[in-house]
Amino acid sequence: MKEHRIVLLPGDGIGPEISEVTIKILLAVSRKNNFLIHIEEKLFGASSIQKYGEPLSEDTLQACKASDAVLLAAIGDPQFDTLPRSLRPESGLLKLRSSLDLFANIRPVKVIPALMSASSLKQEVVKDVDLLVVRELTGGIYFGEPKGLVKTEHGKRAFNTMVYSDIEIDRIARVAFELACSRRQKLCSIDKANVLDVSQLWRERVCEMANKYQTIDVSHQYVDNAAMQLVKDPSQFDVILTSNLFGDIISDEAAMISGSIGMLPSASINNQGPGLFEPVHGSAPDIAGQDIANPIAMILSAAMMLRIGLKENNAAKDIEKAVDKVLNNGFRTIDIANSTSKPLGCRHFGEEILQVINSI
Ligand code: IPM
Ligand code: MG
Repeated sequence: MKEHRIVLLPGDGIGPEISEVTIKILLAVSRKNNFLIHIEEKLFGASSIQKYGEPLSEDTLQACKASDAVLLAAIGDPQFDTLPRSLRPESGLLKLRSSLDLFANIRPVKVIPALMSASSLKQEVVKDVDLLVVRELTGGIYFGEPKGLVKTEHGKRAFNTMVYSDIEIDRIARVAFELACSRRQKLCSIDKANVLDVSQLWRERVCEMANKYQTIDVSHQYVDNAAMQLVKDPSQFDVILTSNLFGDIISDEAAMISGSIGMLPSASINNQGPGLFEPVHGSAPDIAGQDIANPIAMILSAAMMLRIGLKENNAAKDIEKAVDKVLNNGFRTIDIANSTSKPLGCRHFGEEILQVINSI
């Protein structure tokens, strides 16, 4: 029997609740599809700061490196917002991404018909949305040097550097072009080439690569225009290719199109080695521990892990089908509930999905 070893990072806030539900579902689909899944749980984020004084310990990092895939719930805790940046939970996430060289972040946004009314945009605007944000994840202004804060005789100055090499642009562009080939053959690269040198190089490399992908319809948008187009006419997009900072902003905006950021999964991958699969949303400390969180983004992240990281396509499909069915049957968590649906708690919602999996 095939065996997979994954590391689970439940993290902070609602993380442990959505993890508990997701693991039950993972185990159910592994039984159904005849493979074994070994789950090693590790501390990460605020829970790790409490125990080890740092968000990503060497122990957790080594376990992740040795695994077949890493499944993360969410990290972040306002009580640590005042710590020096290097000790904050978010820094642990950046260190994990860069230590595993996870340069490609894939964030699909697909409107589920049963949930169209949960979107803050008009139904006719969102009805055909099915897009993929491909965000560069280990470079750009998040990691650029020099950076820092200096005291001058005129006061303080702080600075970061937005930097990309041609190699970094090429490798993320290639991922996006390949994905476009497997979808609707459309790619839009988002930059700020009218102002930034780094974006000019970005655009030059994407144009160069477009020559090798003649079947792909390539367009370019400045990020400010793209932000507007996303709310005006989001169905014009298929694959969106963009840098780390622009991708961070654009992917949250795109997420809202689907109704709730609680719905969206993501995959961060490398050309080899384990990938990291996590919901786009954060740890939602305001609702933690109340059993009202929406577990869908994490459940769908587990499906992405099965498909991309562990090559268990059928198990991934089982999960996606079950989520669709439960939503079509009218079950909702409170963030996506409407006036006619009775909101279920996180656990109860998970039970409904389990029931469907066991019956298909
Ligand atoms: C995301 C998050 C992270 C990011 C934070 C938590 C560091 O916003 O994954 O989009 O900025 O990349
Ligand atoms: Mg973000």
